[in-house]
Amino acid sequence: MPRAHIELDRRAVVGPVRRRTFGSFVEHLGRCVYTGIYEPDHPTANEDGFRMDVVELVRELGTTTIRYPGGNFVSGFRWEDSVGPRDRRPVRRDLAWHSLEPNQVGLDEFARWLKLTGSELMLAVNIATRGILPALDLLEYANHPSGTALSDLRVANGTPEPHNVRMWCLGNEMDGPWQTGFMTADDYGKLAARTAAAMRMADKDLELVVCGSSGSGMPTFGDWERTVLEHSYEHVDHVSCHAYYQVHDGDLGSFLASALDMEHFIDTVVATADHVGHKKRSRKRIGISFDEWNVWYLKEHQESDEVNDEWRFAPRQLEDVYTVADAVVVGNLLMTLLKRSDRVTSASLAQLVNVIAPIMTEPGGPAWRQTTFHPFAITSRLASGEVIRPVIDAPSYLTARHGEASLVDAVATVDEDRAAVFLVNRDLREPARLTVDVRSLGSSRVVEALTLADADAYAKNTLAEPERVAPAVNASAVVADGVLSVELPPVSWTAIALR
Ligand code: AHR
Repeated sequence: MPRAHIELDRRAVVGPVRRRTFGSFVEHLGRCVYTGIYEPDHPTANEDGFRMDVVELVRELGTTTIRYPGGNFVSGFRWEDSVGPRDRRPVRRDLAWHSLEPNQVGLDEFARWLKLTGSELMLAVNIATRGILPALDLLEYANHPSGTALSDLRVANGTPEPHNVRMWCLGNEMDGPWQTGFMTADDYGKLAARTAAAMRMADKDLELVVCGSSGSGMPTFGDWERTVLEHSYEHVDHVSCHAYYQVHDGDLGSFLASALDMEHFIDTVVATADHVGHKKRSRKRIGISFDEWNVWYLKEHQESDEVNDEWRFAPRQLEDVYTVADAVVVGNLLMTLLKRSDRVTSASLAQLVNVIAPIMTEPGGPAWRQTTFHPFAITSRLASGEVIRPVIDAPSYLTARHGEASLVDAVATVDEDRAAVFLVNRDLREPARLTVDVRSLGSSRVVEALTLADADAYAKNTLAEPERVAPAVNASAVVADGVLSVELPPVSWTAIALR
């Protein structure tokens, strides 16, 4: 059995555990909104038409910030369509996902839904096909208290208090040729700078996210970030990163090491942003808003989704069903975001319900947890205080996609009276025997140890078997003489809470 040892030094603090790391994303796409969070005829629906069974699961998931309403959708969106009396809202074509948008859920309803879940709104604004004035109008409608045309319209629409949205995304994936109104880095950087400057004239305390590349595989990756930030550095606070991972050609070993790619991606964007900052002699540091990340079987879904020439309401799109291995990767990606909490200021698991999501629903039927739900929910519940970067001594293996990868990966968090260690074993066949020196955390007792694993790394939760995969107590975890020892099954994710 492979053995590994981890040293934890209380002084090796990376940064704070930022609650916004546990964000997610709701896009008007497929069944994320319609029959996902909103289904007026569902037995659990509240007076707004929101499914309370889904609200309960979102609360359990522990999301903090939710990006809305897109994604690619936002680049064809007129926000005015989605406020006011519902029976007067227009039905529009959504070109991004080739479907019909009935506008029955808009900013005011979504903000009420967020209150039920306890999450903060992160609002994306369409600057791809609209521009500065509609962005300012939306800002006035959302955040101005009252006494102006658009704030009074919000009040008349039944929302007396302003939404007070702090985080705003200046468009979405503006380098992607699939984006309605995609642009060159120069054009987008100038437009983002002007829009940001105008929005700050209304409210200087907004937090603004400028679009980075839509992925590190884009041919312009790096140059895009540099050019966009050269135009907008003074005006924005965060630059976005998006990354999706999947098993390629059955290569599970590479897939399990996806976190290495994410960490390299973050390092590259930080280096590029800091390069621009140094050139500008600026002391300001740009944060990373990792506002789309997940496992996504992109190619499979392009071939099989309910997308054809018809224009439909809420078609089944991107409804990935996740395996145990997918959950281990999601848990590991979240560990990586924590490990870079010095610069990752916010993140959004894309997405929340039905669409590449931790929560699934059936129209008129139940809602259930995908495998990926569990590592997210447990990490959000247990991580607090500060992030500690561990020193890991473990065997490694060679991957085709990411080079040499450690068989065991880890991160720890420590707060005044508690600590937590998050672990993965990437070995496809062997359990790992692990020891962790926890003396410097002052921890002497395991209060909870949960492992997600299965004899079948491809096991899934489905409508027929919604609880096939769930975390189980790991009884092997004990602390003796300041050393935590634990056995990690093959292809597994583990969280250990310590006092
Ligand atoms: O999350 C699904 C889609 O992926 C988003 O709409 C888009 O931003 C990205 O390409």
